[in-house]
Amino acid sequence: MVAVVAVRPSPSDPLAALEVRDEAPVPTTPPPADWVPVTVRAAALNHHDVWSLRGVGLPAEKMPMVLGCDAAGVDPDGNEVVVHAVLSDPAWTGEETLDPRRSLLSEVYPGTFAGTVLVPRRNLVPKPAALSFEEAACLPTAWLTAYRMLFTQSGLQPGQTVLVQGAGGGVATALVLLGAAAGLRVWVTSRDEGKRERALDLGAAAAFEPGARLPERVDAVMETVGEATWAHSLKALRPGGTVVVSGATSGATPSADLQRVFFLQLRVVGSTMGTRDELDRLLRFCATTGVRPLVDSVLPMTDAADAVERMVEGDVIGKLVLVP
Ligand SMILES: NC(=O)c1ccc[n+]([C@@H]2O[C@H](COP(=O)([O-])OP(=O)(O)OC[C@H]3O[C@@H](n4cnc5c(N)ncnc54)[C@H](OP(=O)(O)O)[C@@H]3O)[C@@H](O)[C@H]2O)c1
Repeated sequence: MVAVVAVRPSPSDPLAALEVRDEAPVPTTPPPADWVPVTVRAAALNHHDVWSLRGVGLPAEKMPMVLGCDAAGVDPDGNEVVVHAVLSDPAWTGEETLDPRRSLLSEVYPGTFAGTVLVPRRNLVPKPAALSFEEAACLPTAWLTAYRMLFTQSGLQPGQTVLVQGAGGGVATALVLLGAAAGLRVWVTSRDEGKRERALDLGAAAAFEPGARLPERVDAVMETVGEATWAHSLKALRPGGTVVVSGATSGATPSADLQRVFFLQLRVVGSTMGTRDELDRLLRFCATTGVRPLVDSVLPMTDAADAVERMVEGDVIGKLVLVP
């Protein structure tokens, strides 16, 4: 069965590190014997997979590694499930995302871009019948991250205004769809006019060029772009506003502008992935509201290189889904 594999760290040319193999390689760290096999019906690409190919978070000694954090499939009892990608230490009793020893699928243990993925049973979440496998596969990383940013970390209330930087991305489109469905006024920025228009179709109330002067200051900013948008994110906030940051695609060391942070009493809140319970609530939210992930394209896993190339080029609106 096909497997999409990172074979070596390739910082400047991630595609050069990608191989599609007929069989998954023997794992450098074999999963524990009590983990259960899930037959993968659909998996979704994330920027995390591009970072892995570049060797960020995935050192050479862990390669070859099957890529992929996200999957929806069927467990050994025939149940339709979504896989929670956060693997916490079995001895950890707190919230999974705070476990300093946690990993994501494809960081230590093989990921989801294969016919089967092994996971702890507690990481299986029931898939609502209303969601297709392709839709459900989009949720465990980008959408779960967006859910936690908006509903756990931001302090936003329905009716408030949130700015989403970089409208075309997987996390960003999830923020627009979830935020609009929850009664937030969602503003976006994007470098691309077509992506700005698409964000308006998805429910954004206004779309701006990066760095644009906004009609008024916002209650919170959702930041995944990093250096390219950070200064604008801080300037966009009202006094006492919150910037929630979960990514730094364009660079992770912007000028901090501390004077603005303390003088306006801004809150800077980090956010990473989400808990199993949050994933369960996200699935129910989608089933209840009718909100569905924006799927850009569904491709066979054998075309994984095309999908990665499109993500590297930024030529994506929503999620790229891979099927075995
Ligand atoms: N902490 C976590 O748990 C977590 C979870 C998921 C993702 N992330 C991180 O969040 C980031 C976004 O992930 P994603 O899966 O949504 O990625 P993606 O789909 O590739 O989205 C990246 C978006 O960034 C925007 N962008 C704006 N300026 C940019 C610039 N100068 N260079 C590159 N991109 C720029 C682009 O939006 P426009 O083209 O519309 O401008 C692009 O669509 C990644 O860095 C990822 O690693 C973190």
